[in-house]
Amino acid sequence: MWTYHNPVRIRFGAGAFGELGRLIAGRRYMLVTYSEPLFQELARKLGEASGAPVLVIDDVKPNPDRADLAVQCQRVSELEAPPELVVAVGGGSVIDTAKVIAAARGSFGPVWDVLISRGQGADRLNPLPIIAVPTTAGTGSEVTSWATVWDGAGGKKYSLAAHALHPVHAVLDPDLTLSCPKGLTISTALDALSHALESIWNRNANPVSALYAVAAAREILEVLPALSRNLSDRDLRSRMLRAAMFSGLAFSNTKTAIAHSMSYPVTLRYGTAHGVACSFTLPMVLRSVIGINSECDAALARIFGSNLEEGAARLQGFLEELGVSTRPADHGVGRDEWRAIVEEAVLGERGQNFIGSKEGLLAQID
Ligand SMILES: NC(=O)c1ccc[n+]([C@@H]2O[C@H](COP(=O)([O-])OP(=O)(O)OC[C@H]3O[C@@H](n4cnc5c(N)ncnc54)[C@H](O)[C@@H]3O)[C@@H](O)[C@H]2O)c1
Ligand SMILES: [Fe+2]
Repeated sequence: MWTYHNPVRIRFGAGAFGELGRLIAGRRYMLVTYSEPLFQELARKLGEASGAPVLVIDDVKPNPDRADLAVQCQRVSELEAPPELVVAVGGGSVIDTAKVIAAARGSFGPVWDVLISRGQGADRLNPLPIIAVPTTAGTGSEVTSWATVWDGAGGKKYSLAAHALHPVHAVLDPDLTLSCPKGLTISTALDALSHALESIWNRNANPVSALYAVAAAREILEVLPALSRNLSDRDLRSRMLRAAMFSGLAFSNTKTAIAHSMSYPVTLRYGTAHGVACSFTLPMVLRSVIGINSECDAALARIFGSNLEEGAARLQGFLEELGVSTRPADHGVGRDEWRAIVEEAVLGERGQNFIGSKEGLLAQID
């Protein structure tokens, strides 16, 4: 038996940003975004349509860190009247920050307690409603019920997960992604590709997640090389944002797996962008799962063709063409360190979702 559920109301299309005012509908809202001029301009437009937000949090940095989140949550408690709604306009870091702020309702302490107790008590959190407006085509956070919280000082990564953290609305306007520079476009798209594949070699895979994952991966493999050469093509931007959302709908029900589990120490130690860290291992993971599970093989064959060894080689070539080496050493990770990362990753929460084995992965070390 299997189940699939996703409660997020999705609005997709060029100009969808203009509908935000109607969705906010006069409620007291707070805005989470970045401080760059581009986002200040979006905030100004939003203010014109919906009135001024009661609070703006715009000091979001890539990979939200627990220390910053504690300060940002505190600012909500200083308001005379709390917000009724959190609107996030930005990439995964902004949307995840908004989720934490929504769950904290002014007090980070209870959220931190949930994080360090591996999710215990998450169902007692009562998050404010969230509207998520992604400006990168990658994380799928606009349709998932979790947020990644980084603890740079402690060298750890946590996940805050609760059903009520699903945004109420996801507003996807591909024109907002037109300003993404090449490196960001590539790394975020590879994050989405990783989400799709990770939902396939996953113990929680089901026929609906597989449909979304296959559609997303095929589209990303086709669109990304062209998009990386023509960043201002609106049709390609739209296809990429839709594919990233499909990946989100796939892994919203499976969570990620081993490639993500192996990526976290790489990002924490070497600052590697999330999308690169969770995708340079995809060919080696693909090689390691061939023949393990017939449904997994069938889904992968719909993406890469029936010869999956050849498919893995093509995936490696695809990444290398985009400037992403598939060798851990080229990301600063030595052979012994890589072995240790693999051994720890299979024991992690995401690693446990993986249908393959430690031995299969270690056999890929050259
Ligand atoms: N919750 C989830 O389901 C989920 C899934 C995957 C990743 N994540 C998390 O998301 C984070 C990564 O998010 P991300 O990859 O979207 O990037 P990001 O939000 O970290 O942003 C990276 C940079 O991109 C810039 N940027 C964003 N949109 C832009 C645009 N339209 N034009 C120009 N610049 C723009 C930002 O200013 C920022 O400097 C990581 O912390 C990761 O752990 C969460
Ligand atoms: Fe990811």
